[in-house]
Amino acid sequence: MIILAIETSCDETAASLIEASERGIVVKSNIVSSQINIHRQYGGIVPEVAARAHIEKILPVLKQAIATSGIKHPESSIQLVTVTHGPGLVTSLLVGLETAKILSYVWQKPLMPINHLIGHIYACLASNSQFPILNFQFPAVCLVVSGGHTELVLMENHHQFKKIGQTLDDAAGECFDKVAKLLNIGYPGGPAIARYAKLSSIRNLVSSIQLPRPMINTKDYNFSFSGLKTAVLYKTRKLGKSPTRQYIPEICREVQQAIIDVLVAKTLRAARDFSAKTVILCGGVAANDELRGQLGQKLKTKNPKLHFLVPPKNLCTDNAAMIAVAAYFQYQHLSAKEKNKLKNNWQKIEPDPNLEII
Ligand code: KG4
Ligand code: ZN
Repeated sequence: MIILAIETSCDETAASLIEASERGIVVKSNIVSSQINIHRQYGGIVPEVAARAHIEKILPVLKQAIATSGIKHPESSIQLVTVTHGPGLVTSLLVGLETAKILSYVWQKPLMPINHLIGHIYACLASNSQFPILNFQFPAVCLVVSGGHTELVLMENHHQFKKIGQTLDDAAGECFDKVAKLLNIGYPGGPAIARYAKLSSIRNLVSSIQLPRPMINTKDYNFSFSGLKTAVLYKTRKLGKSPTRQYIPEICREVQQAIIDVLVAKTLRAARDFSAKTVILCGGVAANDELRGQLGQKLKTKNPKLHFLVPPKNLCTDNAAMIAVAAYFQYQHLSAKEKNKLKNNWQKIEPDPNLEII
């Protein structure tokens, strides 16, 4: 079936068409228009500015996704329209949602709402041209790490998700972004910190900086990152106006490693406790090379039989292909009656900024 997906939950306007069947998934087009350059001047996302940019971009992005998909008659070929309905910024979500509702109504297509975080999980199955289809082996433990969320999710099958842990304060991506802001090294913070951290390891600097690993030894699957940001703030303040040239690379390497150590420890614990067959790393922070490498390595050492899945880097950050793939798997598990009900969704679906996996 051919699926059209729209994603506008935060600061990326995205549309994608996929062709999915039991034989496999082909991403026909995947267009992402990022607002990073707009928000850079503010050092973070300004919701009103984001919503306005979505309004300007949604139609060009949609048209480009259709044009580059090679699909000639979208109104007859597309069988399902899908859209992110939460969590996210309400004014951003509304733009994608209203667009999807109009398409569903005008083209008379079923409309399926998708949870953004579940979309991130399915990004693992969205890399181009997979034949035969890649599938999860259950149970799967999913570490979803983005700018707004840090969660461990247990997935028993394609329609059974349970949140087993989450951050009690800042998300991991938020910690990267806030630390980068206070060090004044650029936006978004994750890639900026990763670049400086790499510089420090290339120079093989031996660091004297030590940061805490918050909650690393607690028996639950929760996280806390706000103390890490405060620790960086105090260390930086102490140096006054004259930090050494080595300071920025060293502190970046240490803060990145502190975040990774906690994420890896909790994921290993959850994988062991729930006898996971698959571990999935996803969300924007999953684009971090060190996190991908270190988690993969540790899992392999602990349990060589475990499958470790992580999306290609371009599918870690927000995109619509992941929403399309999630919709395909969710659709397969609906009864005929439930599928039929999707036709009236254009009248019903509302954005849910606080939508949760429970
Ligand atoms: O999933 P995403 O695109 O948006 C949300 O749903 O939040 O994630 C964005 C987050 C930002 O906090 C950004 O700093 C972080 O992902 N990020 C990274 C890297 N690339 C993006 N964090 C660490 N290392 C990276 N290479
Ligand atoms: Zn996201």
